[in-house]
Amino acid sequence: MQLFDVYPLYDLEPVRGEGNYVYDSQGQSYLDLYGGHAVISIGHSHPHYVASITKQLEKLGFYSNSVQNPLQQELADKLGALSGCDNYQLFLCNSGAEANENALKMASFHNGRTKVIAFKKAFHGRTSVAVNATDNDKIKAPINRTYTTEFHEWNNLGSVSESLAKGDVCAVIIEGIQGIGGIHVPEPDFLEAVAEMCKKQDTVLILDEIQSGYGRSGKFFAFQYTNVEPDLITMAKGMGNGFPIGGLLIHPRFKASYGLLGTTFGGNHLACAAGIAVLDVIKEEGLVDNAAQVGEHLLQQLAEVEGVVEVRGKGLMIGVELPFAVGPLRKQLLFENHIFTGSSSDPNVLRLLPALSLKKEEADQFVEVLKSQLVVSH
Ligand SMILES: Cc1ncc(COP(=O)(O)O)c(C=O)c1O
Repeated sequence: MQLFDVYPLYDLEPVRGEGNYVYDSQGQSYLDLYGGHAVISIGHSHPHYVASITKQLEKLGFYSNSVQNPLQQELADKLGALSGCDNYQLFLCNSGAEANENALKMASFHNGRTKVIAFKKAFHGRTSVAVNATDNDKIKAPINRTYTTEFHEWNNLGSVSESLAKGDVCAVIIEGIQGIGGIHVPEPDFLEAVAEMCKKQDTVLILDEIQSGYGRSGKFFAFQYTNVEPDLITMAKGMGNGFPIGGLLIHPRFKASYGLLGTTFGGNHLACAAGIAVLDVIKEEGLVDNAAQVGEHLLQQLAEVEGVVEVRGKGLMIGVELPFAVGPLRKQLLFENHIFTGSSSDPNVLRLLPALSLKKEEADQFVEVLKSQLVVSH
């Protein structure tokens, strides 16, 4: 049987990972500044993570959401304490798209409306409701276009407020920091004003923290750089350090009822063991602070590199804009310098999303390599 060929692949096969490195079958190490699309939060194969999942698998890997599973409450308690969102309610699912799908459903259940405000270059996933709020027509099938989405300019309060004033908007969905679009940080004033208007119109504010959350920005959630209290917060990626797990944080003013949301696999024992281990390591190793400090250092160093147009981001969610398309540079970084980096929908932006455990020396190593590569390409 052939694989459905939808991914352009690098000719490289990592066979092992440890900390901030992956290794190919020849034992060559690669500094991982991408974490497989922002997924690796605590580092590859962290011993506590491996031991927790292994121990759980030996006891019970899975049972459905029809029986008691105290691991879900343990995860909720630890997440609440670490994120500062203890008053929210947690719904567990399996991926980022599923988290956004459920968030948009919750919004529509709440106010009965269907129109959604999203932002230019936004990415919210590939499932039907989520993809319709994604600003990429190429990945939308006709069957996905089930409701009206307006795509507004990032940070443009005027157009958003004009639309919200009509009182017919179901939800505003916005990334805590826009990722795939090329790393764009929302202005705090903008986000706070949008939140205020949403409140007035009973429009649901959804913070998509799937990429920017779980400590990546140097705070647990990127929106915590502002005074916003979102109605719904979506999470995935770093939550399981590679184990598929997603979640939705739901403001206490939304009431649950049996059957409102559901999933077969979401919140299963293994996923919870992975999620709890991630939170334990983030807490024990102070990884949110590390992301803030190493991220700040890296942002500063990168801003001084000659040839760089702009550096954007917070913590370890960084976009480096260059005056040329970065595809060939990424290949050189990977095959000559053995460093993984990411792309974005902006061809000129290099995206850095390393594990939150990145060391200052590793950040410096990248800056030196980038300098030398930029000298070569000019
Ligand atoms: C901000 C954001 N939202 C949603 C998603 C979708 O997540 P998943 O691929 O787990 O469905 C992504 C994935 O890249 C993302 O970056």
